[in-house]
Amino acid sequence: MEEYKTNTIEEGLTKIEFPEFDKISSDAPVFYNPNMELNRDLSILAIQVFQKEQDREINICDLFGGSGIRGIRYKNEIDGIGKVSINDISEVANHYERHNIQLNNLNDIEVYQHDASMFLRLKRGEFDVIDIDPFGTPSPFLDSAGYCAKRNSLLCVTATDTSALCGTYKEPCIRKYNAKPYKSEYCHETGIRILAGFVALTLSKYAKCIEVKMSHSTEHYMRMYLEVKKGSKKTDESLKNIGYISHCKHCLHRQTSNGLAAPIEEVCPVCGEKLIHAGPLWLGNIQNNEFITKMIDETENKKINKEKEALKLLNKCIVESGAPATFYDVHTISKSLKVSAPKFDLILDELKKEGFVAKKTHFNPLGIKTNADVESIKNIIVKLQNKI
Ligand SMILES: C[S@@+](CC[C@H](N)C(=O)[O-])C[C@H]1O[C@@H](n2cnc3c(N)ncnc32)[C@H](O)[C@@H]1O
Repeated sequence: MEEYKTNTIEEGLTKIEFPEFDKISSDAPVFYNPNMELNRDLSILAIQVFQKEQDREINICDLFGGSGIRGIRYKNEIDGIGKVSINDISEVANHYERHNIQLNNLNDIEVYQHDASMFLRLKRGEFDVIDIDPFGTPSPFLDSAGYCAKRNSLLCVTATDTSALCGTYKEPCIRKYNAKPYKSEYCHETGIRILAGFVALTLSKYAKCIEVKMSHSTEHYMRMYLEVKKGSKKTDESLKNIGYISHCKHCLHRQTSNGLAAPIEEVCPVCGEKLIHAGPLWLGNIQNNEFITKMIDETENKKINKEKEALKLLNKCIVESGAPATFYDVHTISKSLKVSAPKFDLILDELKKEGFVAKKTHFNPLGIKTNADVESIKNIIVKLQNKI
């Protein structure tokens, strides 16, 4: 093993050592990204909530270990954890994973060197939590995750290929997620829904289905926590959440259609222009109020450095629970009307006054999730404009 100059960092209650690198990249001898600390902190909250809900000792698979920071933090900082299995295809990563387990004086953590899919195939049914945190897309590993995942287990999935999921590059999204993206003002939500839809469709071949407990799009990545359920009837029912979002570039109207091969309207019912479709994707809930409330409560019991950011995000996500799919960006609508945007909160209040659901979204500070149609929002913007 080559000798490296090393760095030591602390996250939560855990110390981790890894070879020094110039810039965060997959070329580093062992990958460590300090910008993912919030992701790891949220994972600790989510897995702790899941463990308490299950009310038993749980075993975790950290499928792409890197320095080992995830698996080691999970064992060190979450109560009720049995065995943790850390896997990585790289021998150097394995060396530092073992070293870091010792550094934190931990037992019951095994280190493995396998291709991720092979590992999941070998270990079918052994894990209560599978954490998939790869370089770029999780897509090639989801089939094996579907094969391996137990009934009532938790699947944690990161994707950093947001340009594909958001539709900046259409073809990679079609290749990796077998779905057509669309780069609208709500493309990050579409991206999360494409990822969830792809997981749901992939798992369905094993008669397994998902319940999205929490999901977020933050900076360069998307992350979701999914409870896996088993049963062909349940799975058939759950696949009713698969469908399409259709968008009108001309008047900004959008609509959803459930069903993988259901007929989809081609023409905008508001202005008669051609609709653009994104999907197949997940049209079901992408936030679970009860689960996120428990994650918020759990911050009281944990020492996490990113507590303020975590709470800010969780409080935004909780509001989205049960809200309609997609959101309207008030600046985009105002621009289409060629007026300057009224104050965001005034629009939100006016929508509520008129009896509509109107909620903020973590995807965009200028976004409103509402059951109002685009014409009603436009009328409100014009009305408020006239009052200025
Ligand atoms: C993004 S890093 C993991 C970061 C880590 N989870 C963390 O929170 O710091 C991805 C890791 O996957 C490993 N890897 C790449 N391809 C793999 C494969 N096919 N099977 C298993 N590990 C793989 C790399 O060696 C790298 O350490």
